[in-house]
Amino acid sequence: MKPLKVNKRIILGPGPSSANPDVLKSMSNPILGYLDPDFFKILDEVRESLKNLYRTKDHAFALSGSGSSGMEAGLTCLAERGDKVIVCAYGYFCERQILMAERLGLEIIPLRSEWGKQMDPSLLEDALKQHPDTKLVVATHAETSTGVLQNIEELGKIVSKSDALFMIDCVTSIAGTEILFDDWNIDFAYSGSQKCLASPPGLSPCAMSEKAYQYIKNRKTKPSSWYLDLSLVNDYWGSEHVPQYTVAVSSIYALYESLRLLDEEGIENRWNRHKVNAEKLRAGLTEIELNLPISPNDRLDQLTVVTKPDHIDDVEFRNKLIYDYNIEIGRGLGDFAGKVFRIGLMGESCKSEYVDQILDVFRKEI
Ligand SMILES: Cc1ncc(COP(=O)(O)O)c(C=O)c1O
Repeated sequence: MKPLKVNKRIILGPGPSSANPDVLKSMSNPILGYLDPDFFKILDEVRESLKNLYRTKDHAFALSGSGSSGMEAGLTCLAERGDKVIVCAYGYFCERQILMAERLGLEIIPLRSEWGKQMDPSLLEDALKQHPDTKLVVATHAETSTGVLQNIEELGKIVSKSDALFMIDCVTSIAGTEILFDDWNIDFAYSGSQKCLASPPGLSPCAMSEKAYQYIKNRKTKPSSWYLDLSLVNDYWGSEHVPQYTVAVSSIYALYESLRLLDEEGIENRWNRHKVNAEKLRAGLTEIELNLPISPNDRLDQLTVVTKPDHIDDVEFRNKLIYDYNIEIGRGLGDFAGKVFRIGLMGESCKSEYVDQILDVFRKEI
């Protein structure tokens, strides 16, 4: 084997996005022990910064694992085998929640609605009336497979009238879109480090309500996974720093730096950068007469879905972009497979010059 050298790619797919160079540099700091008091200081700052990012007064931490580890941890901890769980399902990642819930033996009530549109909140209202014994409601804030932003505030109001806990996927929305964890009555939110936070993949920054924490501590049976037990993870990240597993120390350095950079930029400015670049991309795509299938009211800024013209071969086109232009874009998933391209502008990949580059390529090649 030779020393590893990877050339920079312009990553404009659905994630991961490029990591900020300062974030990557921060990872080359010396390793500290996961129980070292100096490391606890770093951990405490990351925790407080995540609480601020999610807008919660309760708990925050980062799981060692990708976004799906947060998904699996939430489903493992917030309901017990046989409990009723409503999953709002309007895309590929919602369907992944259902697959995981099935493995955990939860009684799933899937609320399936059309891909590419926001789910009508009255579906959830009706389902909770029909199933008042529901223990957990699960929804996705930014569905990366369809490029749709779901109104979580409205769903949260509905869930708050029931006894159910409320869990949200924020993998694509974190740091790219406003999330008001406490105000929206969320009990558990998970995300990923690799998109709008501009960190490498490998951590799942989460927030958890005190209500969810108490539920996990007091449930009849312990969560089936020790590693993903959110109460144990929270006890390590809390002021007592109760030991659990060896956390991904260098990834936490990276998260620290990405949160510091976010603070420096300002959260509103970060959201606005995503908005402005997405608007520029959408205007350019429309100008070259490409179709944007998602309605303006439902669109995500972080990810734009564009209909693939019939004369273009999906795989050939995306490979050409990689090999001739050094640019990655995403393919369609699930109901959208083979029908669309997905262009992500997230975190470090969300730059005006990249929008110019991808529009140039589309003009030449389509
Ligand atoms: C909305 C959403 N949820 C969950 C995931 C899974 O995250 P990961 O691939 O980091 O496990 C993704 C990945 O892109 C996603 O976009």
